[in-house]
Amino acid sequence: MNKDLLTIRDINRDDLENIFDLATKFKQERGKVVNTALAGKSIGLIFAKSSTRTRVSFEVGVNELGGTALYLDQGKMQVGRGETIADTANVLSRYLHGIVIRTYSQAGIEELARVATIPVINALTDDYHPCQIIADLLTIKEYSGRVDSGIRVAFYGDGKSNIANSLVLAAKLTGIELVISSPESVGMNADIAGGAPNIIWEKDPVKAAEGVDYFYTDVWVSMGFEEERAERMKIFAPYQVNSKLFEYARPDAKFLHCLPAHRGEEVSADVMDSARSIVFDEAENRLHVQKAIMSMLF
Ligand code: CP
Ligand code: NVA
Repeated sequence: MNKDLLTIRDINRDDLENIFDLATKFKQERGKVVNTALAGKSIGLIFAKSSTRTRVSFEVGVNELGGTALYLDQGKMQVGRGETIADTANVLSRYLHGIVIRTYSQAGIEELARVATIPVINALTDDYHPCQIIADLLTIKEYSGRVDSGIRVAFYGDGKSNIANSLVLAAKLTGIELVISSPESVGMNADIAGGAPNIIWEKDPVKAAEGVDYFYTDVWVSMGFEEERAERMKIFAPYQVNSKLFEYARPDAKFLHCLPAHRGEEVSADVMDSARSIVFDEAENRLHVQKAIMSMLF
């Protein structure tokens, strides 16, 4: 495993299996076994964007591993008033044992990680959300017993979002069949897919649903893109995940969503609230997976 987790590129298949094993152990032992992997360690959680799951699961995770979590609002830090990322990285490396950061720029967190002598975990940028996708892969493993070419995932909506980009990298890592279904004007990031034969783009939402094991969607308006809301509502409207799509999928197909969800936009209320929806298992797995990642990196 690399020093930092900035994208899924930072882990290999063995690392992924190790994260699954440790996360599963943490899940089974939760409330029964005391773990002190982060005892005496202070972890900074820097947030420039809103969060419910990521903030709470990281804070609870640090607490459960015996460490101390410091929530840092990026807007209240000097980096927002012109201090350089490099100076911030140097200073925080003198105090902390690890940094978890949610912000806008991927290049910014790469600069932070390059200068920092402590590990940095990406808790979402405009481009990637690796912790989310590793938790999603664990959820798939729990339901299907495998994460490989025998699994077909269809992602609907913003094919260039941080979630879509990270799913593409996850497909490259694991060999899962990934279909990105989005409008022609959006497509997917072909440079990230790099021509991998198991990753395809399909404009037709019905065709994309054929043989699917997991439907996955994300908000149509990601944080930082609010001014494009009207346009996005229009172009993504045909890509709502609704019960009609399930008619073309495998009989036991399930529904994944990183959350927060907007019922009536990217997902219909009936799908979101159906027995096919495993979104809360998925959200729970954020905690177990991040505890595993933190105890490996910090
Ligand atoms: N899925 C996710 O990262 O949720 P939050 O934005 O609530 O952290
Ligand atoms: N694509 C969404 C994910 C939220 C967890 C966003 O960036 O807002």
